[in-house]
Amino acid sequence: MIIETALRTRQTSEYYFSVKLAEVRKLIAEGHDVINLGIGNPDMMPSEETLQALSQAALKPQAHGYQPYVGTIAFRNAIARFYDHTYGVKLDANTEILPLIGSKEGITHISLTFLDPGDEVLVPELGYPAYRAVSQMVGAVVKEYPLREDHGWQPDWQAMESLVTPRTKLLWLNYPHMPTGAPATLALFEEAVAFARRNRILLCHDNPYSLVLNKQAPLSLLSVPGAMDLAIELNSMSKSHNMAGWRLGWVAAAKPYITAILTIKSNVDSGMFWAMQEAAVAALGNSDDWHRARNEVYQGRLDAAQAFLQALGCTWDKTQEGMFLWGKLPDSVESAESLVNRLLLEKHVFIAPGFIFGPKGQRYIRLSLCMPKERIWEAVERIRS
Ligand SMILES: Cc1ncc(COP(=O)(O)O)c(C=O)c1O
Repeated sequence: MIIETALRTRQTSEYYFSVKLAEVRKLIAEGHDVINLGIGNPDMMPSEETLQALSQAALKPQAHGYQPYVGTIAFRNAIARFYDHTYGVKLDANTEILPLIGSKEGITHISLTFLDPGDEVLVPELGYPAYRAVSQMVGAVVKEYPLREDHGWQPDWQAMESLVTPRTKLLWLNYPHMPTGAPATLALFEEAVAFARRNRILLCHDNPYSLVLNKQAPLSLLSVPGAMDLAIELNSMSKSHNMAGWRLGWVAAAKPYITAILTIKSNVDSGMFWAMQEAAVAALGNSDDWHRARNEVYQGRLDAAQAFLQALGCTWDKTQEGMFLWGKLPDSVESAESLVNRLLLEKHVFIAPGFIFGPKGQRYIRLSLCMPKERIWEAVERIRS
């Protein structure tokens, strides 16, 4: 006997990587040396201070009990200092910050907090798949807004205006943008805030890449005057602090929004391990030099990734930021899917096809920089041979 699952399990398909990485593991088990340039999983270590703080805190007897739903005040204070130092944004650690088990979790909490069935959500036509999947899970209606490739992959605000109806409730934005690497600009954020204000929409900005290969000072959407009235920002230590597996992130917003999100979140999960929060405090204090050194390593890898795209005959935009490289396929390549499968089976190199981020990505591929540069160069050699 099989008990039927809820409808929502049939609206959403299994995550592409969950399926594809099983194939990668199978090839590895068969003895093949697979170079995985598919997933954005930082391979570098957190700072030494972070690891020391974790191990010292883990030895304390008080470390192991339940923790506050709102995270420790030490962690929230460290986030407030980080926001001030990094973006020049002042946040109240008591009321305007809520630690999360990664920003992915925040997408669900925010959607449960603000969306009723039938509400409409604007998601980028190319973007992180969870915005769409979670909106559908909570019964909201997804409306894709177009991005203009000829305008640095920024939203087409005019087209977006025509998508707004009285049911439009929430807009997902993410710059530096994944997967295209389009940078954030203050003008873009100002336009987003003005759009949200005009249309009475909650603006949710997802900001995990601001410190990775950024070419100018990192930006927070909350630095736009008046943004706190109608905007929420997710941030994460996964990429910027090499701590993806730790599951540390937060949402920053005005007090009423944080209180509302906490109502949902405190019924779903509990505060994270105290030692991890202590370690997060140390990590948030990483020096600017630490971040610079991490970016130098990514820069070396970027050179190799560009050679990889060149070997495939792809074109790409040199202004990209973040830890991926987004390339456009030449006309001679039949489809991203066939190329990705061929590279995996024949060259044992795994890359992400652009369509997993939305149909607009059909003719694109995404390379991750989370591999030592020697391995990326090895992948280049395999392609060239
Ligand atoms: C745009 C974007 N948002 C959110 C996430 C999730 O990050 P976290 O590890 O903080 O859950 C990712 C991860 O790849 C991402 O690319």
